[in-house]
Amino acid sequence: MKFSYVCNDCGREYRTDDIMYQCPHCSKENDGTHFPKGNLRVIYDKQDLERLKEKEHVTCYDFFPYEIPNHDAYPVGNTPLARPVRLNRESGLKNTYCKLDSALPSGSFKDRASQLIVGQALAHGQTRIALASTGNAGAAMSCAGAAYGLEIVLFVPKTAPINKLMQSVLYNATVVPVDGTYDDAFERSIEYTEAFGGINRNTAYNPMTIEGKKSVSIELFEQLGRKAPDAVYVAVGDGCIYAGVCKGFYDLLQAGLISKMPKVICAQSTGSNAISQAFLTSRKVPMENPTTRADSISVGLPANGSMAVDYIRETEAWATEVTDQEILDAQLQLTSKAGIFVEPAAACAWAAYAKDLDKIKKELGEDACVVVLLTGTGFKDMAAFDGRVSIPPAIENSKAAVLRRFGR
Ligand SMILES: Cc1ncc(COP(=O)(O)O)c(C=O)c1O
Repeated sequence: MKFSYVCNDCGREYRTDDIMYQCPHCSKENDGTHFPKGNLRVIYDKQDLERLKEKEHVTCYDFFPYEIPNHDAYPVGNTPLARPVRLNRESGLKNTYCKLDSALPSGSFKDRASQLIVGQALAHGQTRIALASTGNAGAAMSCAGAAYGLEIVLFVPKTAPINKLMQSVLYNATVVPVDGTYDDAFERSIEYTEAFGGINRNTAYNPMTIEGKKSVSIELFEQLGRKAPDAVYVAVGDGCIYAGVCKGFYDLLQAGLISKMPKVICAQSTGSNAISQAFLTSRKVPMENPTTRADSISVGLPANGSMAVDYIRETEAWATEVTDQEILDAQLQLTSKAGIFVEPAAACAWAAYAKDLDKIKKELGEDACVVVLLTGTGFKDMAAFDGRVSIPPAIENSKAAVLRRFGR
């Protein structure tokens, strides 16, 4: 679909098909003392969106700015919507669903952004994509690169979690560990694309990362029988997934396919709560030394913080903060009572939902349709269970040992 860009801060519109990263006016002000300015929203003509109303079924591809050739090569989307019936019985909210994006090809939600970046690269004749990541985005882009034969150059802080990095190495990306932080890796990746060309896929810096992530909302609309849920819980670090979810519903609203926005709840860890605090205090400033066991959402200066805060207000939603202990408890609750195995960052969304049960009942009613977005598989971070769960010792290989083991 034909698109243009609009700056989230100054509202300038850029009518171009070229690759754009940030608003050249507003991004000049970025010096690390406040949330970055100048992030771009991708927008469409309302008439083009309204035409989609005539279709019996819509998919994200109807709402994308670029075509995705051979999308079965890297099958992103159509993730299961599980109804955790045991947990719903306990909570009294029977219409709660878990969106299992842990089932995407590389095991995290980040595949959604990487898919659209593939479309952008191919449309512009580019075969090289560079990015910075602490793990999941890098693994997702590398996975896409392997599927399409694209060269992926991945800058990572040298301390990044090994499990996630191994994926990227196995997918055959060029992995460049940097002796510095994620922010340093971010800068190095931009210097790389400026010197060697290709596309830069940094989260939120490339507006197509936000746009790709909206696919989940289009999918939810169809999966729920062509309606939006009342609320969606999203774990937030940089605020890019959060904004993508909101953008998907916003496009559906523009198309006339839904009549109101769902409340999109921002779930953060108390140890990394820059966006939640900016929403509460109206001060868009970074957090020093964020620390949470949910490494994927440990962010001091959120790359899409400003847009995320704006969307919390636009969807008349709220932010819920949870402790690391609540996150880890939620992870075990989902595993043992719903058979859903997710990494700590994803469990943050469930922890916030579990904390908000009374609020949901009061504000949205007991019949509310709530979706909790589960953004990454538990296999990404098995170390999260160290010291919490252990495998029982082996029994002797005999019938007597079996009887003894079970008390006979
Ligand atoms: C599993 C998982 N959940 C949630 C998030 C948060 O996304 P964002 O940084 O866009 O807020 C991330 C980001 O890396 C992630 O990997």
